[in-house]
Amino acid sequence: MFNNGWRQPCAAMSSWLDRIGAGLVLKHPEMLDHDWVPKELVGRDEQLETLAGMFTGIDGPSGSGRAVITGPVGSGKSVLSRIFTREISTYHASKRDIRWMHINCRNNPSESQVLQRIIHELDPRHPDRGLGVGEILSSIRRLLRNESTHMIIILDEVDHLMRKSGDALIYRLLRIDEEYGSSGTLSLILISQEQILDMFESAVISRFGYLNHLRLDGYDEEGLFKIAHQRAEMAFMPDAISKSMLRLIAEAAAPSGDARVVIDLLTNSSRLAEKDGRSEILSSDVQRLSMERPGNSNDSVVDELAAHAMLLLIAICRRLKNASEISSGDAVSLYKVVCEEYEQSPRGHTTLWKHLKKFEEGDLLKVRAGVVSEGRGRTQHFSMPHLLPVDIEKRLEALVKAKLRK
Ligand SMILES: Nc1ncnc2c1ncn2[C@@H]1O[C@H](COP(=O)(O)OP(=O)(O)OP(=O)(O)O)[C@@H](O)[C@H]1O
Ligand SMILES: [Mg+2]
Repeated sequence: MFNNGWRQPCAAMSSWLDRIGAGLVLKHPEMLDHDWVPKELVGRDEQLETLAGMFTGIDGPSGSGRAVITGPVGSGKSVLSRIFTREISTYHASKRDIRWMHINCRNNPSESQVLQRIIHELDPRHPDRGLGVGEILSSIRRLLRNESTHMIIILDEVDHLMRKSGDALIYRLLRIDEEYGSSGTLSLILISQEQILDMFESAVISRFGYLNHLRLDGYDEEGLFKIAHQRAEMAFMPDAISKSMLRLIAEAAAPSGDARVVIDLLTNSSRLAEKDGRSEILSSDVQRLSMERPGNSNDSVVDELAAHAMLLLIAICRRLKNASEISSGDAVSLYKVVCEEYEQSPRGHTTLWKHLKKFEEGDLLKVRAGVVSEGRGRTQHFSMPHLLPVDIEKRLEALVKAKLRK
């Protein structure tokens, strides 16, 4: 009776409830959280080295570093800074006590919020109110000095702080030791998608220096593939996702260059699979999700295709419903089968290659990297990362008869 409104779920409901998160696909769902930090950063060795160059001498008693990291969404700015600070503090542990903290200024956009975060990290019982900026800064300095500790502060999405309060706090953090005639209490890493150096007053710029700016580019398909591979290996059950499917995910994310898209595709395709009670990700899971991404679905191109281009694409879609790629040779053979079905005589190779090229240019198909040579001539492999083959096939079947009659 008094069960707080809890009812036994009905049988049908409990069966899908059981399937979600049942671990059919995911072994460690927490590893797909955007803030989860992997052990290693993939493909950013050069950038880590550049950053390390901005922190030379940090192992000494008065050493410190300063860096500004910029780059587009999902280029790995936050994870790079976290792994860098984690590694540097471990690496120098025998020489110096280096602590680090990450503050997201989107959630803490005012000066006092940032200061409270820092002081609470050092002294959780520090009173929240009644102290001015100067007093809090000297408490921070005193606490760190008393413990002979150096602190690296990462101000992530710092443009939010800048817009709200300008660069006054950054200036004061940079000068924390100046009036004491010492140095080395704090290091600062500022992160933003925008080029923030232009937003600083010259006094801050001269303290940072243009040389301490690390600019990250978005990832190319190969970089995204490596990130997908690393994350899937850690978070997924063995055999839940094939390499070819990881390639499809990288292809789907490639136009954005955004590693977040890769992580989201991994997360959401595993949800689709688990919801269906499957222990394996299918290409249609990835394609369905990719198609829903804004700007990715340009399927209207298919309506304008010539009749035989439609037949060729029908053939390709039939294979890609169940596989993540098709070779050019198979595409031609399957096209011949479709021609028989529609009682058409097949067009020659040159025409078919022209159509394939057009599919690629129109973003209907993607040519896979790595050309495999099979006996005579070269073979290309095609995938369809942004569209759902079953939908395109249906759409073409509805259109092609009228096209052939013309
Ligand atoms: N080189 C990499 N190796 C492994 N994982 C990565 C790498 N780059 C990015 N990631 C992962 O991709 C996701 C996005 O990266 P991150 O949050 O660092 O991007 P960002 O540049 O800070 O994006 P934003 O501008 O939106 O804050 C995170 O889950 C991160 O762990
Ligand atoms: Mg970030």
